[in-house]
Amino acid sequence: MLETEVLIIGSGAAGLSAALGIAGHKKVIVISKSNSTIGSTYFAQGGIAAVMDKKNDNFVSHIEDTLKVGAGLCKKEVVAKTVVQAPSIIKWLEEQGINFTKLNHSRELHLTREGGHTNRRIVHARDATGAEVQNNLLIKARNHPNITILPYHNVVDLIMLDGFDKKQCVGAYVLDIKTNHIRTIKSSFTIFATGGAGKVYLYTSNPDTSSGDGIAIGYRSGCRVANMEFIQFHPTCLYHPKAKSFLISEALRGEGAILKLTDGTRFMRKFHKMEELAPRDIVARAIDYEMKRTGGDHVLLDISHKTKAFIITHFPMIYRKCLNFGFDISKEPIPVVPAAHYTCGGLETNMHGQTSISNIYAVGECASTGMHGANRMASNSLLECFAFAKFAAKKIINTPHSPPSKKIDIPNWDESLVINSDEEVVVSHNWEELRRFMWNYVGIVRTDKRLERALRRINILQKEISEYYGNFKITHDLLELRNLALNAELIIKSALSRKESRGLHYNTDHETTKREIRDTILRKRSS
Ligand code: FAD
Ligand code: SIN
Repeated sequence: MLETEVLIIGSGAAGLSAALGIAGHKKVIVISKSNSTIGSTYFAQGGIAAVMDKKNDNFVSHIEDTLKVGAGLCKKEVVAKTVVQAPSIIKWLEEQGINFTKLNHSRELHLTREGGHTNRRIVHARDATGAEVQNNLLIKARNHPNITILPYHNVVDLIMLDGFDKKQCVGAYVLDIKTNHIRTIKSSFTIFATGGAGKVYLYTSNPDTSSGDGIAIGYRSGCRVANMEFIQFHPTCLYHPKAKSFLISEALRGEGAILKLTDGTRFMRKFHKMEELAPRDIVARAIDYEMKRTGGDHVLLDISHKTKAFIITHFPMIYRKCLNFGFDISKEPIPVVPAAHYTCGGLETNMHGQTSISNIYAVGECASTGMHGANRMASNSLLECFAFAKFAAKKIINTPHSPPSKKIDIPNWDESLVINSDEEVVVSHNWEELRRFMWNYVGIVRTDKRLERALRRINILQKEISEYYGNFKITHDLLELRNLALNAELIIKSALSRKESRGLHYNTDHETTKREIRDTILRKRSS
């Protein structure tokens, strides 16, 4: 049994920056089910949105762009509070050792552009911003005396007590992946920083860690979940059987790359006045439409009109990676397809990152703060991770608390009634089936009939998974499958309940956008 004041689940941008914000005041344990480095943060390319060029840009413009892309569902006060934090967050990140790309060897930051932004405001570290951020924050956290990092620890569920007048979290049961034993961690505050749920879909830009665990665990614990129908599909992932949906950053389009059909025709002009830099939902839907219309299995992204020196200076990682797959992007266009990229919904929080259960927080992609609404604008995600980690840290530091549930007797995990599985293949079959029908029936373009079909499938799978979970010893894969299935159910139910098209949710049976604006809220009925 371990004890800590604050338990942070996840070691990406959100988890590590929350840990560093709190550790001057309270003891923190950060767990991650990976090696602590891998998560979406590590793979972020484009950068972090921040108004840094005070001459040509301003907060009002960043706020207005975010609200517009969010299609009416962003919370204006949340957007404003987050956007004004951005310059100080960039300064803080530089103090942590992060080396952002500068303008022509000066000390001034180079700012790039991405979809939806009307100005250049993306701060970046070449085309591998995430790796630079992740590596530096991890070094800082590892060296902090008040932070303990436990890699390869997968949270199973939170430990909840029915308090005097409300539910309370007193810690978590955690699978130590290396030993396959369950440990108990007691905590006064618990923060989910578990990232998104991209792995629900067959094709995704996300790493394997993105199985929506925090959203599922939070939901099972009684937290409210908001707006899960809004899944963002990134328009341009490399089309190659071995590339595992390698992302080709929107910053390429920001620097002039053009989308074309395989016969060389440009097509974005037909869909939006901002053409290649239209909001992501519009670009992804346009590509989906053109692929279906022409019967093609990909479209092309072309930056070969720029000089090789320009391409290598701005996009060294993407240039190298594509070359490894046989494409010289300085000479030829890149074959691309859309793939699931970002979970806009998640555990509903207030301005402090608090969920509907007051000592459970959610920060980063697993949260639904009101920042992104029905569609997230490019590079606003990392910004939200840092901003809400900061808000949550401040709230936790200033909340008086008793030491971690000293008097509460938490039972250890009981494995006496379950046996080792003799049919692990059930897990991989269900995993494959789930991701495929989510891709086919709950993708970029939806219909009521496809959503209902998906609901019938998920109900059957959920039953099978829960029987399996009840009878056999827990494994890492089984935990992820159980959480993926719950995320799929939440996405389908949310999508079915929204009888309109808005932002990322496009249903051909309900093509108009209603005047009434509402969030989709799901909460587990208490048993
Ligand atoms: P993550 O970085 O995903 O970290 C999640 C952590 O939770 C990991 O440590 C994981 O091990 C841990 N975890 C998960 N479940 C459990 C569990 N059950 N038990 C224990 N630990 C668990 N956004 C931008 O703003 N700009 C960009 O340029 C950008 N580029 C992107 C490029 C790619 C390829 C991808 C995939 C995303 C990109 N995004 C970008 C989105 C952004 O990177 C993510 O939204 C953000 O990094 C999420 O950070 P996070 O800390 O919430 O989660
Ligand atoms: C990209 O670089 O295209 C990804 C940016 C983002 O998801 O915000």
